[in-house]
Amino acid sequence: MRYIPKTKTVLALETSCDESAVAVVRLEQGRLRLLANCIASQVEEHAKWGGVVPEIASRRHLEALPFLLEEALTESGQSIEEMDAVAATVTPGLAGALLVGSVTGRTLANFHGLPFLGIHHLEGHLASILLTESPPKSPYLVLLVSGGHTELIRVAGDCQFQRLGRSHDDAAGEAFDKVARLLGLSYPGGPAIEKLAKFGNPKAFSLPKGKVSNPKGGYYPYDFSFSGLKTAMLRQVQLLQSAGGELPLPDLAASFENIVAEVLVERSIRCTLDQSLNSLVIVGGVAANKRLRQMMSDAASLNGLELHLAPQALCTDNAAMIGTAALMRLESKVGSSSFQLGVSPRWPLEQADSLYLPKAPF
Ligand code: KG4
Ligand code: ZN
Repeated sequence: MRYIPKTKTVLALETSCDESAVAVVRLEQGRLRLLANCIASQVEEHAKWGGVVPEIASRRHLEALPFLLEEALTESGQSIEEMDAVAATVTPGLAGALLVGSVTGRTLANFHGLPFLGIHHLEGHLASILLTESPPKSPYLVLLVSGGHTELIRVAGDCQFQRLGRSHDDAAGEAFDKVARLLGLSYPGGPAIEKLAKFGNPKAFSLPKGKVSNPKGGYYPYDFSFSGLKTAMLRQVQLLQSAGGELPLPDLAASFENIVAEVLVERSIRCTLDQSLNSLVIVGGVAANKRLRQMMSDAASLNGLELHLAPQALCTDNAAMIGTAALMRLESKVGSSSFQLGVSPRWPLEQADSLYLPKAPF
């Protein structure tokens, strides 16, 4: 008799920052299907303050989740009793915001007699690439570029992650947000800079690439630093302001966007080649940037590498990626998380396995 793998369906919640999200994801005959993907963005509310206000984020998650849960279940045509598990992001992120999703998820799971899976947010971003038509085959290298992280991660087999590069200060998305504020643009900075940059000259200003020195000599080839670039932008703006006249905002935006993309492309390609890998993946909020996508795509084909770009709608935070990560964990037979599992603002991705131990790590 032929073995037919069982269909598994997961209800997933994401509340780690400023997007409240609920999704229903199914794994059927080895294929992933997104049955519902609902998001309530709080971006406009935080924009008034120029960045995310943690207290407001928690309150808005609390208000949005009941409606999102109802919407996601209706859209998927499923009832909660038909789920195989409930998953929620438990780390890293804003503690109060994470708590809302985690407590809601654990309560639903416990009440309906379902297993609960606490998910590492970065593992979620990594899983977003599996929701494409032809997902990459491991091992592969991932450039994870979001508002909180800029990392190069080698993915091998089932949920095996090895960090090969990281930012020593700001994440790329954070740099976009801070530079946008400097230029008087709205939050979040990435889309605002991208919009203006279309009309600017990417070579108008010469900006630094932020290498990270190795105390033993030379540089860390796969690491990043964006704080020097941020300061260089500030100096440039001050210089232009002291000379009088209007700031050439499109040129400033384009030069900044271009240098960030160049740095990300150079180090990702080098790392992929040095690791003798054939496939490179980009995920996370900044991966939505069209210039970065185009430059990475050109560099990948020049170097004979296969490039996998996360779908634009799944680059920024969503629950579809959390549900996908949960299904991968169910497939790898880790079991489930303890109902005692809390939340943590920080936790290494390499230790994500500990979220499924009988004794919760936090
Ligand atoms: O992945 P994400 O939604 O949240 C985190 O996990 O951090 O990423 C949000 C970040 C913000 O810093 C935002 O400015 C940036 O991603 N971002 C972009 C673009 N869209 C969002 N950066 C550059 N270009 C974009 N189109
Ligand atoms: Zn994220």
